[in-house]
Amino acid sequence: MEFYELADGLKVPKVGFGTGGLKGSSGAAAVANAIRAGYRLIDTAYNYENEGAIGQAIRQADVPRSELLIESKLAGKYYAKAEALDAIQESLYRAGLDYFDIYLLHWPNPIKDMYVEAWDALIEAKKRGLVRAIGVANFVPAFLDKIEEETGERAVINQIPLNPDIPQFETRAYDDAHHILTEDWSPLGGPRSHFFNREVLVEIAEKYNRTVGQLVLRWEIQHGTLPIPKSTNVDRQKSNLELFDFTISAEDMASIAATADEEARKLYPDPTVYEQF
Ligand code: A2P
Repeated sequence: MEFYELADGLKVPKVGFGTGGLKGSSGAAAVANAIRAGYRLIDTAYNYENEGAIGQAIRQADVPRSELLIESKLAGKYYAKAEALDAIQESLYRAGLDYFDIYLLHWPNPIKDMYVEAWDALIEAKKRGLVRAIGVANFVPAFLDKIEEETGERAVINQIPLNPDIPQFETRAYDDAHHILTEDWSPLGGPRSHFFNREVLVEIAEKYNRTVGQLVLRWEIQHGTLPIPKSTNVDRQKSNLELFDFTISAEDMASIAATADEEARKLYPDPTVYEQF
């Protein structure tokens, strides 16, 4: 495994495991398998309603807590500061953990406009030792600027949808310029992925003797971003980690980005108007 170093010094693996929708015993078993397969960064959220299953997976997998990085996200309904601090503790109780390694604001919810107050709560949670590193998800540059201007503290991670259908040139460039790590949700296009059979991707993947899944994840890592693929299948969980013994040429990197499907792009919410609580 290779690692990125966040602006606050925390080292994170270049690929993590996504868990949205993995719940109950089968969800816990899938996450435990992922940990056994070698994933060390596990992403969850209050609103995935699976923090209990993640805690169960951690206990089942028998890997020391200190070797794992567990990341969760604050739900928009708890952006008032006191409620946020209670919700983070509730997240921890659900997972049976004493601290999260990373905690994010799940959505900016700009119409409700409470994300600065919620950010202040994450700063406080870090001071209290409930979380080690703090960041955001689905933020555009203007919102990232605002939290920094109003609190003096910058996010160290911005988790956004990123894959060949939504290459995120603008937000990625901003994140890079501000030492904010871009983490990719839906790195394989989610359950209704539009690109696994795309001819250009199949041809390039064959050239490197890789699957399209591996090609796309490697493309994301070569952009300096951190994909969190999800799979319930042990073989795919393993193959999605085998990304560090090949390099995509600059020409192929560009060809992959050029396949973006504008229709598929519309499946991703616009965070400047979308709200989720
Ligand atoms: P499965 O659980 O059957 O492997 P994302 O990570 O973008 O949210 O995408 C997750 C979806 O992609 C899941 O439906 C998962 O199905 C599928 N998937 C994960 N890894 C691969 C892969 N290497 N090749 C094809 N499909 C994959």
